Amino acid sequence: MTEKTILRALKGEILPTPPIWMMRQAGRYLPEYRATRAQAGDFLSLCYNPDLAAEVTLQPIRRYGFDAAILFADILLLPQALGPKLWFVEGEGPRMETTTTMAQVQALKPIEAIHDTLSPVYETVKILARELPKETTLIGFAGAPWTVATYMIAGRGSKNQGAAHVLKASDRAAFVALIDIITDATVLYLSEQVKAGAEVVKLFDSWAGSLKGADFTDFALKPAAKIIAALKTLHPGLPVIAFPREAGEGYVGFAKAVGADCVAIDNSVTPEWAAEHVQPGGCVQGNLSPVHMVTGGDDLVRETRRVVDAFRKGPHIFNLGHGITPDADPDNVQRMIDTVRSA
Ligand code: CP3
Repeated sequence: MTEKTILRALKGEILPTPPIWMMRQAGRYLPEYRATRAQAGDFLSLCYNPDLAAEVTLQPIRRYGFDAAILFADILLLPQALGPKLWFVEGEGPRMETTTTMAQVQALKPIEAIHDTLSPVYETVKILARELPKETTLIGFAGAPWTVATYMIAGRGSKNQGAAHVLKASDRAAFVALIDIITDATVLYLSEQVKAGAEVVKLFDSWAGSLKGADFTDFALKPAAKIIAALKTLHPGLPVIAFPREAGEGYVGFAKAVGADCVAIDNSVTPEWAAEHVQPGGCVQGNLSPVHMVTGGDDLVRETRRVVDAFRKGPHIFNLGHGITPDADPDNVQRMIDTVRSA
């Protein structure tokens, strides 16, 4: 059997047609997702139900034949497994018990305890490893320490991650201790996903863009490098995708600096810029704006071709620059895939 296209691209091969998958490909824009989620009850019940979580992971594979499936879970399950309560407010987003003092950091559960909470996630991975089509790559994931810490510190999502920046400035020791715990727990979590059958792992640093200068080095780059080095020691040859979202110039050389096989690029930079400055460093993933999945039309086709053409001279995995949104039209997704595969 020839090797899966995503794995080939991650090894640096330039394919005539880039393999394609989509962030948040299992999600509310799909009627079949909404039906399964209604069956599960709420979002977290869906995440912790291996049969239903595997089902929603498979839905976009059945509908579109994407080249990769991403485990259905959430980056906030790991901090929840360390102790703080987590819940989702319908129409608003996540809420979490806050961790803002050294005493609270020290009161987190020992990292080995995460498996008690997260074992259903590993079960989902096992089901998927069995049930996915032979050509489809299974991607596991976790949030990067900084992004996870921003939710633990603020207790919710925030536009500028202010609370985390304040803690970093006011109680550096507590902040660093928290980052270190998340870093070590993430290694255990991702390693367990790999043992269960994940073939690639991706680290989501959604808020990396608010780290500047030395902070970017200390809290985006170094924790990612530590996690990836540990994973590659435990699982030699494991491909890793890093996503320091909105890193801008920080994308240049990032993959090499952290030891990743691919860097995912958001749509705040042009594909031409990324092809010139980032892709010489290895495989890139991205970076069509998710807005085209809402608006469709000629712009969708033109911008999809533009991304494919820009990245043609190097290894590339086609993706959006960020997750698809609930108001997207499933037909636009099909049109994007058809355009990529005929470009
Ligand atoms: O990509 C995938 O399809 C895999 C599953 C996945 C989800 N979340 C499912 C989800 C992944 C990889 C994530 C990552 C995630 N979760 C990130 C990092 C990536 C990013 O988007 O920047 C972050 C910051 C979170 C935290 C989170 N989860 C937020 C802020 C929200 C609320 C916003 C929203 O879209 O409602 C979630 C909920 C969430 N995670 C949903 C899904 C499908 C929607 C839940 C629902 O069904 O109501």
